[in-house]
Amino acid sequence: CGIVGYIGRRQAAPILVEGLHRLEYRGYDSAGLATPEADGFRVIKTEGRVQQLRNLIKEEIPATIGIAHTRWATHGEPSDANAHPHLDASGRIALVHNGIIENADRLRAQLTADGVVFASETDTEALAHLIGRSEAATLEEKVREALSRVEGTYGIVVLDLDNPGQLVVARNGSPIVLGIGESEMFVASDVAALVRHTQQVVYLDDGELAVVRADEFHTSTLAVEASPVVKSPTTVDLVVDDYELGGSADFMSKEIHEQPTALSRALSGRLNERFATAHLGGINMDPRELRAIRRVKFLGCGSSYYAGQMGAQLVEELARIPADAEPASEFRYRNPVVEADTLYVALSQSGETLDTLAAAQELKRKGGQLLGVVNVVGSAIARECGSGIFLHAGPEVSVASTKALTNTATSLAMLALLLGRVRDLSTADGKRIVAGLRRLPDQVAEILAQEQAVAEVAARFADTRSMFFVGRVRGWPVAREGAQKLKEISYVHAEAYQASELKHGPLALIDNTMPTVIIVPDDELLSKNIGTIEEIKARNGAVIAVTNAELPEGLADAELRVPRNETELDPILFTIPLQLFAYHLAAKLGRDIDRPRNLAKSVTVE
Ligand code: G6P
Repeated sequence: CGIVGYIGRRQAAPILVEGLHRLEYRGYDSAGLATPEADGFRVIKTEGRVQQLRNLIKEEIPATIGIAHTRWATHGEPSDANAHPHLDASGRIALVHNGIIENADRLRAQLTADGVVFASETDTEALAHLIGRSEAATLEEKVREALSRVEGTYGIVVLDLDNPGQLVVARNGSPIVLGIGESEMFVASDVAALVRHTQQVVYLDDGELAVVRADEFHTSTLAVEASPVVKSPTTVDLVVDDYELGGSADFMSKEIHEQPTALSRALSGRLNERFATAHLGGINMDPRELRAIRRVKFLGCGSSYYAGQMGAQLVEELARIPADAEPASEFRYRNPVVEADTLYVALSQSGETLDTLAAAQELKRKGGQLLGVVNVVGSAIARECGSGIFLHAGPEVSVASTKALTNTATSLAMLALLLGRVRDLSTADGKRIVAGLRRLPDQVAEILAQEQAVAEVAARFADTRSMFFVGRVRGWPVAREGAQKLKEISYVHAEAYQASELKHGPLALIDNTMPTVIIVPDDELLSKNIGTIEEIKARNGAVIAVTNAELPEGLADAELRVPRNETELDPILFTIPLQLFAYHLAAKLGRDIDRPRNLAKSVTVE
């Protein structure tokens, strides 16, 4: 979900709607805003997109203070009533909320027993009533008191007609950032909504509250016995252009094409030819400490998890240390054994994914060694981890991750190289990988130059209802990521399998209606993959091979070509044509590529 708040000298509504528009990628089920008027709040909200909200605003709204929200539904279906902001029973308090209030049912029952009538099915409304019913003198105290009864996660912004001229914001698990302007202040769940107005920002930490007025703010802890927290603004180096489409049709296509530049940024200053290694300044471990690592575990969600699988493969190959990847949520819920000589690496584009953040927090509690590989500087996971690797991919807006995945996998290749070079990886092999990494940006550009050819293949398969994506070892996470991309944005069912597992069950599904995308690098497993293709062809299945090998003429029904690099780095390059394949198949089906149904860019709930 996305939150925006404004207080200052200008009309709030246009600033709020424009801010929501920037945050729409974080949720787009419904949108709304609230501004104070002489005798109550003006609340405009609707199911659907921010554009629908914009259409509902028929006249100028003079208020210079207001709050707004774009929603990704958790409790209650997307509807006008469930859209935020929510008011308390008296209509004097208005609230927007990200996160989940876990004891909402209990609070709702108590409030209903006290005669409160609920207007929505949301967990948020209970909090609005709690604030409204507090008898504390100031809004700050009312919020503090109400939150002391709430379990769960939240980023909130509250307006009170009886305490005008201020916004009260609080954070526990859902990001909140303040933007400092001149005689005006902004609040948002993401800097994307602020950078048009200011580069000066203050990130709230979990357990903090801020009272924001047009020309000042003060922060304190959320505890009932609050103590002040002094925070000074930091400068973000993002500009509004980073969030503009420019000439692109959508953000996914823009970000796919940014990959050569984004990759160059990730590599810049981090490769050392002389010592044949990577220089990763954000990792504060000396060679002795690096050598003491006995195992590496990557944790992340969605595409970040698949990038982690690519990383695990690289660490095993280059450093010969056992490594694996696990979805962050599974890790945190299974009471993991945390070992002192394991290096844990949290992977997240946004740095806000709650499952990954919670896994990182659990690791820290248990004393694990933790690194973060994160795109958004200043994000919760970056701060929790303290050290690690920044992706330098630039803001990623498309829900389907592309350049962040590429930069994550590349960063993990550098980590693997570093771990390898303090162990047994030879200078010659180190040099080979350094040179291979340097070639990546141009080779990605080479793949992107064949976009039209990939689009034609995608169009040929656009009426397919289901597809397999298969690969072996290095190709397996590529297959998983390829299937995920296709599902996310085209809604065509896709299932990833290890190629060798196909014959142990799924082969039963192969016929002329079920095509298979197979990852075929020219590596030691080439003949095995050719065997798999033969097995599929023998059952009349169509085959799309993603390959840098010379396959026998006519073996595959279509080929997506990839340039040759060092075989360890293949997953990075092989992922790119599959982004284009998913993109063009979805485009052919007329999907809303940047806003796939039911999804959101950053999932800040469990
Ligand atoms: C969401 C997005 C995915 C993304 C995942 C992890 O589910 O839809 O595209 O891969 O979150 O996001 P993160 O920001 O932690 O990398």
